[in-house]
Amino acid sequence: MPRHWKSSSAGLAALGLLAVTLAGCAPDAGPVVTHTPTPAASTAAPLVDKPKSFFNKTQYSIDDPTSIWVVVNKLRPLQPANYAPKLVTLNVPHISAPLMTQEAGDALLKMFAASAAEGGGALQVQNSYRSFAVQTNTHNSLVASLGQSKADAQSARPGYSEHQTGLALDVAALPSKCDIAACFGQTPQGIWLAANSWRFGYILRYPADMTAITGYIYEPWHFRYVGVALSTEMHNDGITTLEEFFGLPAAPDYAP
Ligand code: DAL
Ligand code: ZN
Repeated sequence: MPRHWKSSSAGLAALGLLAVTLAGCAPDAGPVVTHTPTPAASTAAPLVDKPKSFFNKTQYSIDDPTSIWVVVNKLRPLQPANYAPKLVTLNVPHISAPLMTQEAGDALLKMFAASAAEGGGALQVQNSYRSFAVQTNTHNSLVASLGQSKADAQSARPGYSEHQTGLALDVAALPSKCDIAACFGQTPQGIWLAANSWRFGYILRYPADMTAITGYIYEPWHFRYVGVALSTEMHNDGITTLEEFFGLPAAPDYAP
């Protein structure tokens, strides 16, 4: 029922009351009859706020690696572990070859253009798709240099990385500043991305205060494509992790 119906009814009721009152004041009026106008609420449908739009959390799979909603973490390895998506090469500034799925790549182009146009500054791709084999090398070299525990806090074991989905990337400023470092979050690029990536379907996947849930340290450079519907819903709800949004267990560590 449109809102104006209620106000119209209320207005008519008020006019009715005014007419009765004026009649009662006329010099030749007979006895004043008390008139109780019918309350508007009894003739108009109750005024209800527009119902909140329903968000279907099962619209896409969180298990299927081809799904834009797939949730990958230390308790949710990719299945199959050697999954390889269909990829496109993106025509954007980069440090390593920018490979993503078509949909994630299209959104990335829009996000990079908007950052440059809106004061976020120029962006480049630091890392994007990493195959199981590349993730193995990346992770092993970090284990060799940092030890297992520190490596696990910032690098996924092979088969457990979002980079293998073609939906995630590490963004760097152009020219480079604070590449793959916490201070990226204070650069104009990092600030703009944190505030605006949701508009393009991307989420900052490893927020500073969510290590106990995501299993990873603050990575202000790592963005994950989930589509505009989900990123907008998370933004509006103030929920920053996929684990919380989908009611999944926290994943601070690998299963023993
Ligand atoms: N740095 C993230 C956690 C990865 O290796 O996938
Ligand atoms: Zn990353």
